[in-house]
Amino acid sequence: MYIKNIKKLAGTANPAAPLRGRELASLPAIENAWLHLEEDTIAGYGAMHDLPAAAQEADTLDASGRLVLPAWCDSHTHLVYAASREDEFVDKLKGLSYADIAAKGGGILHSARRLQQMPENELLSLAWERLQELMRLGTGAIEIKSGYGLTVDAELKMLRVIRHLRQKAPIPVKATFLGAHTYPLEYREDHQGYIRLIINEMLPAIAAEQLADYIDVFCETGFFSPAETRQVAEAGKRYGLKPKLHANQLNLSGGVQVGVELSALSVDHLETMDEATISTLAGSATIGTLLPTAAFFLRMPFQPARQLIDAGCAIALATDYNPGSSPSGNMNLAVAISCIQMKMLPEEAINAATINGAFAMELQDQVGSIAVGKKANLIITRPVPSLAYLPYAFGSNLIDKVLINGREVL
Ligand code: NIG
Ligand code: FE
Repeated sequence: MYIKNIKKLAGTANPAAPLRGRELASLPAIENAWLHLEEDTIAGYGAMHDLPAAAQEADTLDASGRLVLPAWCDSHTHLVYAASREDEFVDKLKGLSYADIAAKGGGILHSARRLQQMPENELLSLAWERLQELMRLGTGAIEIKSGYGLTVDAELKMLRVIRHLRQKAPIPVKATFLGAHTYPLEYREDHQGYIRLIINEMLPAIAAEQLADYIDVFCETGFFSPAETRQVAEAGKRYGLKPKLHANQLNLSGGVQVGVELSALSVDHLETMDEATISTLAGSATIGTLLPTAAFFLRMPFQPARQLIDAGCAIALATDYNPGSSPSGNMNLAVAISCIQMKMLPEEAINAATINGAFAMELQDQVGSIAVGKKANLIITRPVPSLAYLPYAFGSNLIDKVLINGREVL
């Protein structure tokens, strides 16, 4: 199939490493372009004045006035959960803080209780509905974490749901083990007891069933200390799971330093950064993943995207979709907020949400840009005046069609 008369085909690059610093502002594109899809794969592209003769005979889609982009690569989500938490949202409107709610046994522990009680097939059907909604919003690859189980059985159940999603979904799905999300109540005073459960029972069972690609730890004051984070992440590494860590969300937690020392694939959140931490990250191969919808929802200061980019960091954008701190998995919104509130340029935000997100899931050979041989996971916009119009008109649905493996998602 040929898509013809594309106003702008954006993201025509195939970089060998995540884009960092100034590179992020360059989003290669072709004006008035065609794109050739063979089955589920990108087979060629170019400018309309070079349209191959074969295109006359082929099926075509006219994209006059429209942009075509690689589908979003959402490299940080907690998509599998049992129940929404809008009651806590209202408590917060009335004055309680995130920490107050966690201290009352709410927050992550509330989600864990609900998930422990729910059968695997129900969890799967809820998560599958959510995943389909995200595909319609343009997400073409996703990472999903465990971490609402917090017992051996419930963590395994959650990871098996993610494995089912991977088998069912037409998009690539990566699984991250986040048993170290918080301490269950019975281990509040016995951190090493819970860490032993993670290391001696959860990890071997997960490895035996090959249920995870990555290991994550919530490195945060009141959750896992830097030393505890290192202990769990190193144990994960011994099973071949690379670290992708929650770091520096609420405090200067030391999570970025631990992540860099352990060659983490990414350190995620980064609301709370100082100059030393920014330069540690900039001097490393670790990707910094910014989650602006979480900062927005929790009314936190936004991630210092400009300082991170100007220091030369490799930056990805993701949604953090979860019932507590980001009840939205809409990557279009994450892109818009990163421009509006964090002063990322539209090109920087799109690179961070596509190719750098793909790198943050080690999927850069399959998705994240318009390149021959990559999956035909694409966004076709409505007629729009320019690329900058996408984050600018943040409240409109500007997506006309999403193609996954070359087929329209309905
Ligand atoms: O990424 N920060 C830790 N975990 C989630 C929030 C989890 C929850 O509140 O359920 C996050 O923001
Ligand atoms: Fe998260």
